[in-house]
Amino acid sequence: MAKVKTTFFCQNCGAQYAKWQGQCNACKSWNTIVEEVVQVPKKGDWKTSNNSQSKRASKPLKISEIDSSQTPRLKTSDKELNRVLGGGIVSGSLILLGGEPGIGKSTLMLQLALKLTCKTLYISGEESQKQIKLRAQRIAPNSPHCYILTETNTQKIFKQIEALDPDILVVDSIQTLQSDFLEASAGSVSQIKQSTTELMKFAKETATPVILIGHITKEGSIAGPKILEHMVDTVLQFEGDRNHVFRILRAHKNRFGSTHEIGIYEMQGDGLREVQNPSELLISNKEASLSGNAIAVTLEGMRPLLVEVQALVSSAVYGTPQRSATGFNAKRLNMLLAVLEKRAGFRLGAKDVFLNITGGIRVDDPAIDLAVVAAILSSNEDAALTKNYCFAAEVGLSGEIRPVQRIEQRIMEAEKLGFEAIFIAKNNKFSLKPKRIQIQLLGKIEELLNFI
Ligand code: TYD
Ligand code: MG
Repeated sequence: MAKVKTTFFCQNCGAQYAKWQGQCNACKSWNTIVEEVVQVPKKGDWKTSNNSQSKRASKPLKISEIDSSQTPRLKTSDKELNRVLGGGIVSGSLILLGGEPGIGKSTLMLQLALKLTCKTLYISGEESQKQIKLRAQRIAPNSPHCYILTETNTQKIFKQIEALDPDILVVDSIQTLQSDFLEASAGSVSQIKQSTTELMKFAKETATPVILIGHITKEGSIAGPKILEHMVDTVLQFEGDRNHVFRILRAHKNRFGSTHEIGIYEMQGDGLREVQNPSELLISNKEASLSGNAIAVTLEGMRPLLVEVQALVSSAVYGTPQRSATGFNAKRLNMLLAVLEKRAGFRLGAKDVFLNITGGIRVDDPAIDLAVVAAILSSNEDAALTKNYCFAAEVGLSGEIRPVQRIEQRIMEAEKLGFEAIFIAKNNKFSLKPKRIQIQLLGKIEELLNFI
């Protein structure tokens, strides 16, 4: 029996200490340092047998001599996932998928496993095989290539892998795995690190892609140490509002592609459906024009996305007016209200203002500002905007309308969806000559009032 060795880890950031202390020096959080038993791992990790590949010494090569042609990507049937990953799953890559509980991580991965045409092993430490079968029945008909294993011990998992020799591996979730080499409990910092290291070795040595599902903490970062994100090749985040059907898959880090792409899904009774044309779905009521509604042409990654902004302005009942925003930064809303108050002479100080982005999505693109302002003004005047108008510009502190990036793409998307006019900043340069859509150039917020 090897000597028992213990170390103290911060459960929040993963910092390591020799002694216990109340506050973590690294992340400054209190009472997060916990003693964990660590044993020095024995030689050999994911395979205890002699592995010739891992013993082969690596030699320096001229960059021109390195063969890059053989990075085959596994194209899945899920176009959104392919796009986010930069064109498919790279062999031997380690992918981490994070997201809030109940958002649909397991569903997305099971769906992927069921639709792949190569041998897939789905390892679950959270659900029984029966539970997974029940879920699979809702999603897709039986797949001859998908294997389900319910196990949490990494050494036992590797034994099964050796017997089955899968082409791709899904682990649900990394927090449930436990390695024999450590005595710390599952989900602790040292266990997560150890299990990920073993899986990473396996992925690199056998060129098998491994997808890990990870839980996220209250603050929204992936539970466990930040080091987990450094170790993997790709970090994907699955997000959305649980009460709405839309889900967005985003890449936070990608060693094999850009992080600008997003994938949009819709949660249905029979699994997740890819949304190819999201703008059409996010705009709710195209027939009737209502006051307080305005349409913004935003960009999500590289894709233009039209979203509907709804505002409600009413007289304040209490002394301090309420301001509330869903899907939009509340501080930014306060700033826009102050600009309106000062530059457009609106007495919004005595009014409650509620703002909502429909579809349960969150928008951080500054180009939504003009639509927010238009929706607020429209609700305040109780005058509906023409339903065929859309907006794409930022609003500055002095009430000036500022240009936004990729305006041509936005104009083209608005035209494609049949809008009559798009409002943009006066000095936003573009060389496009659209046929149908009218382009309205605005310099100041006051000019917008003429249209309401
Ligand atoms: P799940 O994948 O279990 O979430 P996670 O693994 O991220 O915790 O998703 C659970 C939710 O998805 C659950 O509340 C029910 C819903 N759901 C559907 O609406 N349709 C479906 O076909 C499936 C399988 C799940
Ligand atoms: Mg799950």
